[in-house]
Amino acid sequence: MKRICKVGLIFWLQICFLAGCGVLKPTEIPAEPEAENDLIVVGYAQVGSESDWRLANTESFRSTFTEENGFELIFIDGQQKIENQVKALRNFIQLEVDYIVLAPVVETGWDNVLSEVKAANIPLIVSDRLVDVADDSLYVAWVGGDFHKEGENAIDWLNTYLEKQGRADEEINIVELQGTLGASAEIGRTQGIARKLTEKPNYHLIAIESADFIQSKAREVMSSFLQTYDDIDVVIAQNDNMAFGAIEAMKAAGKVPGKEIIVISFDAVRAAFEAMIAGDLNVSVECNPLHGPRVAEIIQKLEAGGTVEKIQYVPEEVFDQENAAERLPTRSY
Ligand code: AHR
Repeated sequence: MKRICKVGLIFWLQICFLAGCGVLKPTEIPAEPEAENDLIVVGYAQVGSESDWRLANTESFRSTFTEENGFELIFIDGQQKIENQVKALRNFIQLEVDYIVLAPVVETGWDNVLSEVKAANIPLIVSDRLVDVADDSLYVAWVGGDFHKEGENAIDWLNTYLEKQGRADEEINIVELQGTLGASAEIGRTQGIARKLTEKPNYHLIAIESADFIQSKAREVMSSFLQTYDDIDVVIAQNDNMAFGAIEAMKAAGKVPGKEIIVISFDAVRAAFEAMIAGDLNVSVECNPLHGPRVAEIIQKLEAGGTVEKIQYVPEEVFDQENAAERLPTRSY
């Protein structure tokens, strides 16, 4: 596989791409192309920067795919739009990168562009969310969390918590804030939660709406839930940032989050541990964003001519107010 140094060209294309997305001004000057080297060029089409989790995921790639580790990383922020990500993939093909990593914003809509990537002979690794494609040979491997299991874990935690509180047989009203509709993290968590709810006839999902994994949107949606329903027992936010938005809405409405309303979320970012220690958040089901080292390992194996596992789950735990203070110092994101 050829290893021409494309640093100047890469920089120029990133400027063009980002200028097209309105992120950078098109007046910036590209660097001059540099001499040849042996770096493995990896194009990463990231979802966006919608959450603390996403920033930790980006940092995991940036700190792993360094020149010292033998990589040249071309990072593109898709700003949560599939069209930006498709454009990024086509730019990577033009650049003849050695590998492509895709964290797809939603599952569908990838067959054509992934076929183009395959036709260009560029191995593609899917990270975080999955792609729903007719031909799974369009990607080499997928690395991410078990979203369905995460959803189930959230309700298992609620069952145990309510039992401990002596409330196991109470009628429980639940509202749910979903992530971006059509994203694997949303689909898996929604389904995992729904499946477990069928086992609990006294749990009632009274409202469900997407807030796109975004804190400010969750604040708005939760405010409207609070205006409509005066008997909410539990809010399930499909990520920590939406839980933070819901907590803000509850406080603004004079409710006590974590006590009057049980707050459940996903990700387990540092700020979630702080919210659990403060008593605002009851539990955060971990979604591990540290995919960089695992993806680098896959690439190294492929470089050595080896084969890799197609589906690779990252380890995940559940953290609540009982273990948050003890575990916070060990957390890296
Ligand atoms: O796909 C993973 C999800 O995307 C995380 O739960 C969320 O925070 C992020 O935006």
